[in-house]
Amino acid sequence: MVDLTYRPRRLRTTPAMRALVQETTLQVEDMIYPLFVVPGTGVKEEIPSLPGQYHLSVDEAVKMAKEAHELGILGVEIFGIPTYKDEQGSSAWDMEQPVQQAIAAIRKEVPELIVVGDVCLCQYTSSGHCGMIDHHEILNDETLPLLGKVAVSQAKAGAQMVAPSDMMDGHIAYLRQSLDEAGFNNVSIMSYASKYASAYYGPFRDAVHSAPEFGDRKSYQMDPANRLESLRMIERDICEGADIIMIKPALSYLDIVREARDNFDYPLAVYNVSGEYAMVKAAAAQGLVDEKRIVLETLLSMKRAGAKIIITYHALDVARWLR
Ligand code: PBG
Ligand code: ZN
Repeated sequence: MVDLTYRPRRLRTTPAMRALVQETTLQVEDMIYPLFVVPGTGVKEEIPSLPGQYHLSVDEAVKMAKEAHELGILGVEIFGIPTYKDEQGSSAWDMEQPVQQAIAAIRKEVPELIVVGDVCLCQYTSSGHCGMIDHHEILNDETLPLLGKVAVSQAKAGAQMVAPSDMMDGHIAYLRQSLDEAGFNNVSIMSYASKYASAYYGPFRDAVHSAPEFGDRKSYQMDPANRLESLRMIERDICEGADIIMIKPALSYLDIVREARDNFDYPLAVYNVSGEYAMVKAAAAQGLVDEKRIVLETLLSMKRAGAKIIITYHALDVARWLR
């Protein structure tokens, strides 16, 4: 007989014993659910690149937001497809467009729900880039006032939080100032502090028709090879006034999440992006993995890495499973 004083399996003997020593939990309160709003009424069409997710007109987006709220989800993030695109991306701050209309309608019908506006230009510019373009160059400083208009238009519509995903330099400071000057000092900023130039955004770009017309986003999004740069970006965004910092994508970047948690005493979010979602859905549809178990394990790993907030297309399913 072996003589073991430490037998870790003692604490794995029953569900109750395992629950007692469980270090990390996943709760419905951790998740934000993204919504894709489109022009029209009565539109609810499944997005081919994101099975189980929908293009929703404003009225249908309100229904979906109600459902999310009833399941205990605390917030939704609004992405939109506009009715027109131009060089500046001016439909991004047009109060008549689906995003602003959806924000206002959801705030009215589901007042307890946190409504987050995605601040960027790529769905709205004819170039499909996240900033203004001149001769195939991104004009960083000329883009900032446009982003300011987007954030203020969303705040006017009723958004309590804006999430700038454009990756321009100086955008957090610019948005903070724009919001404050417009009287919105209570509107918070969730910064995509470390947003990597990632192939995992593919299904999202299909969903919102935002693939760049030329080139790629590597001159503004981060190099997946870099870790230290991420710490500098987070520090910068905190100095500029970010309330919540976000790492995106999530799954391939959990080392960055852990590092962010250990180095910064700020609310930390991850974006469980479209490619991560689509891979799981495809594998599950083929019967290769158990969707529920895979999703719960994946989101738990994001919590374990140190994130509190998870923006995820799985949110409604997870909320049901956790009940
Ligand atoms: C656009 C934006 C992207 C995502 C959120 N906002 C894609 C991109 O940068 O091309 C990705 C979301 C996802 O993949 O789920 N600024
Ligand atoms: Zn963009």
